[in-house]
Amino acid sequence: MMDEQTPVDAPALFTPLTVRGITLRDRAGVSPMCMYSAADGFANDFHLAHLGRFALGGAGLVLVEATAVEPRGRISHHDLGLWDDSQTAGLARIAEFLTAHGAVPAVQLAHAGRRASVREPWHAGAPLDDSDAADGLGPWPVVGPSPIPAGSGWQEPKELDAAEIRESVQAWAAAAKRAVQAGFSLIELHGAHGYLLHSFLSPVSNQRTDEYGGDAEKRMRYPLEVIRAVRAAIPDDVILSYRVSAVDGVVEGGTPFDAVVEFARRAGDAGVDIIDTSSGGISADRSVDTRVRRGFAFHADFARELRQRTGMLVACVGFVVDPEQATRLIEEGSADIVLLGREMLDNPNWVQHARRQLGADEAQHWDQRFGSALTPRLHTLERLDAAGETPLSRFEQSPVR
Ligand SMILES: Cc1cc2nc3c(=O)[nH]c(=O)nc-3n(C[C@H](O)[C@H](O)[C@H](O)COP(=O)(O)O)c2cc1C
Repeated sequence: MMDEQTPVDAPALFTPLTVRGITLRDRAGVSPMCMYSAADGFANDFHLAHLGRFALGGAGLVLVEATAVEPRGRISHHDLGLWDDSQTAGLARIAEFLTAHGAVPAVQLAHAGRRASVREPWHAGAPLDDSDAADGLGPWPVVGPSPIPAGSGWQEPKELDAAEIRESVQAWAAAAKRAVQAGFSLIELHGAHGYLLHSFLSPVSNQRTDEYGGDAEKRMRYPLEVIRAVRAAIPDDVILSYRVSAVDGVVEGGTPFDAVVEFARRAGDAGVDIIDTSSGGISADRSVDTRVRRGFAFHADFARELRQRTGMLVACVGFVVDPEQATRLIEEGSADIVLLGREMLDNPNWVQHARRQLGADEAQHWDQRFGSALTPRLHTLERLDAAGETPLSRFEQSPVR
């Protein structure tokens, strides 16, 4: 699905992708990353500046961090939220900016379930306790499929009953509607990392015996109901993505990868367009969590298999750091989209630099306010390089007398 301006031999990373009539200018997206910087769920200037940099830097897709569908579904007190209409305007500013600068604006909707009510990572991410209440930022009761804590020292979640599950499904749908009103073209459901959707899917955290648990089929029921409700709440021209944990990351008793593949197929039938492949998180105990080894592109094998076995569009995340690596992941069929998290934080212009490295047309893709300055800069650098000059040349010549 190339546009007319894309040369046929463009690196795969820069081949546009069109889904539901929406075109990503390239296959490099910004993975959702919580910044723990909102008050009462409202987006602010920090979020606009932080996310805006990636659109200016050439990303095809920018995903706003995990955004809670209800207050008790926040990870921390400072997560973004879309549980109330008043929260739409702040996110609309961001969606508008991303769109104006050529990125597809996307938001990840989330409910942290039994992993909610924790401190920020720079405070070790531990569960909130009464010592936090002194600052007015104490713990709140968390919910889950079964009363099994995520780890030792974590709260026992309240088991949601069937009526509460139905309410919760509606909360996802209502948040999705607000996301559309805010102008997002892609909505991702956070179904990974041990959060509520994942906790229903996994036998580690879901030991119910009603229609929402007991066997693999019933454990899928809540996530599939959420997907159907969200798909019904959003227009046909909004893309729906779903982040899975390909494996739970526990030694014993986790969801088999085959069950995740089957779930992905069913999610596709229910209206999901893209499976975003991550892993782990079902256990908060470091002693139990056997995470996938953090090598380069550490989810690529899962992503490739999900893509082959479901025939769906697949995004792959996890230590994708290099343009050549990213383009080859797409060429070899491991992913349709690569998502980068920390690499983008480190270098918000990663995509434009990737264009340079892969010989794609960088100049055409800068915002003109940057490009009119950066293109001559590049030419000067090339001229000086050809002349054998380096920034340190002057210091290597004989000393000034
Ligand atoms: C600061 C930070 C915040 C994150 N927040 C989220 C989040 O909101 N939702 C999510 O699905 N993953 C989250 N992640 C995981 C990233 O999206 C990504 O999957 C992970 O960092 C691996 O990719 P990377 O090696 O490119 O960073 C977060 C990661 C970081 C570093």
